[in-house]
Amino acid sequence: MSKRIRKAVFPVAGLGTRFLPATKTVPKEMLPIIDRPLIQYAVDEAIEAGCDTLIFVTNRYKHAVADYFDKAYELEQKLERAGKIEQLELVRHVLPHGVRAVFVTQTEALGLGHAVLCAKAIVGDEPFAVLLPDDLIWNRGDGALKQMADAAEKSGASMIAVEDVPRDQTGSYGIVATEAFNGQQGRISAIVEKPDPADAPSTLAVVGRYVLSPTVFDLLESTTPGAGGEIQLTDAIARLLKQEPVDAFRFAGTRFDCGTHIGLIEATIRYALDHEKLSEAARKMIQDALDEVPPAAA
Ligand code: G1P
Repeated sequence: MSKRIRKAVFPVAGLGTRFLPATKTVPKEMLPIIDRPLIQYAVDEAIEAGCDTLIFVTNRYKHAVADYFDKAYELEQKLERAGKIEQLELVRHVLPHGVRAVFVTQTEALGLGHAVLCAKAIVGDEPFAVLLPDDLIWNRGDGALKQMADAAEKSGASMIAVEDVPRDQTGSYGIVATEAFNGQQGRISAIVEKPDPADAPSTLAVVGRYVLSPTVFDLLESTTPGAGGEIQLTDAIARLLKQEPVDAFRFAGTRFDCGTHIGLIEATIRYALDHEKLSEAARKMIQDALDEVPPAAA
């Protein structure tokens, strides 16, 4: 598996219940960090890594994601007539030329593994990426997926992004055990979905970026429901690593869990502080807020 990845799968069929009532009508992938929806950050990362085919695994209610990547004729006409060229460019270039978006419907919410399997016919027999848009990775250098794609091309192994988490949080992640981990990369010897802290083989947690061999599709087809009664990608990877090399990759960058309230707030603050126009005002606003607002009463 040393071919460069060209296809990226975005599982976006989740219900986003943590963000209700906002997610009653707005899919969580469309929640903004500053002025761009979460999905745009993941898409940009995939394109930077060399992907030209983006596969969105969606459900029948998530028209907003497809609409976002579609052409907005009326809006474009209005902006053009009003001479708002800068805004027009923003609307037109959510996807650059030469990149195509494909939408696949996951008819039943059977789990992340099942969502990835829905993309099988479009991915075919080549290595591919999976990006979970909830996991937003901020980095001034190469994006996390590009780092992984480069490493995968060299080693020929499938590649799973990992980071250290406190032991009491292992129950929220896939957790890996590795051999010969050199601080950045190491062969995975075991992977388990959301283990209790006492049973976790390590505190290296899976983050939502994967570069996978297509063999995983065959394994997913016969993967039975696991943790939470769902068909887990982690369980198929646990079988994959018995047949092919799978490496854990500790990326450079800071990951925000935008599937949680605090993670979304943290990401917004980070991007505001790093924003060329907003940085100064954001710094001042944060300082003022810290000075003025006492901690909320318990
Ligand atoms: C999924 C994966 C899990 C991984 C996590 C990263 O879980 O199943 O292995 O650690 O994403 O965000 P979820 O957060 O969808 O429950």
